[in-house]
Amino acid sequence: MLGQGKVADYIPALSGISPKKFGMSIHLISGERFSVGDFKENFSIQSISKIFTLSMAMALDDDSIWKRVGREPSGSKFNSLIQLEYEHGIPRNPFINAGAHVITDIVFSGYSETKLAILELVQRLSANKSIDYNEEVAQSERETGNRNLAMGYFMKSYGNIHNKVREVLDVYFHQCSLSMSCQDLSRAFLYLANDGVMPSTGEQIISKKDSDRINALMLTCGMYDSVGDFAYRVGLPSKSGVGGGIVAIVPGQMSIAVWSPGLSESGNSLAGTFALEQFVNYTGKSIF
Ligand code: DON
Repeated sequence: MLGQGKVADYIPALSGISPKKFGMSIHLISGERFSVGDFKENFSIQSISKIFTLSMAMALDDDSIWKRVGREPSGSKFNSLIQLEYEHGIPRNPFINAGAHVITDIVFSGYSETKLAILELVQRLSANKSIDYNEEVAQSERETGNRNLAMGYFMKSYGNIHNKVREVLDVYFHQCSLSMSCQDLSRAFLYLANDGVMPSTGEQIISKKDSDRINALMLTCGMYDSVGDFAYRVGLPSKSGVGGGIVAIVPGQMSIAVWSPGLSESGNSLAGTFALEQFVNYTGKSIF
């Protein structure tokens, strides 16, 4: 499993990373933590960032988000354009790329310094002030992200992107470029295991209801077009990124982050999925 799969070379700045890397971190809401392998090494969190921006958008907005984005699995590649045309510029869910663009557009409208607001939230949740955007990765995506731009302009033609497409996508490319470790990520997502509250600080990041809803969306839409297979094998609300990271939530108990850059056809970490499957087999911690 380890070393197999394909590193995401469609983003040139990610292409040089060894698929043999592997790290895993578990943070319990009690404060205990367990880690193994390359858990301190920073990697590009990519689509995992879509949970941070969705949390921000849900905290900002009421149910009007759901007039602009659906809540159903897409059954298509995360960067597919076809469905968008059939469905009149309304993306299927907030985790496929088009859906994440709409969510970032909502966050962009809500914060004047959007990139700073995202970064501050992530640093606070991870208790790590050194977390930053990777400008080389963001630049690499900007230079090669024609498909993302196409989706952005297409949705703009339906009025579903309110701000300037290039400005929204600049934020999107930066959020995807966030450079974090398994240790940072598993700590950052503890609020989703604890009804929206960071256990260490007591800070309410989102309401309990929104935390439940994000978990539901992760379970049904977080692993792209292999979400059914992933739910069958792992059975935890999870979100992947093409950098090879996956975060998984055991509600009421813990947050897990795993990283290994070799990807499956669907864009999910192969060794990361295998590690989560083994974890659930040994501990019985699936939600089912
Ligand atoms: O926009 C993209 O294609 C990437 N920045 C993010 C894609 C991603 O991580 C999808 N994940 N599995």
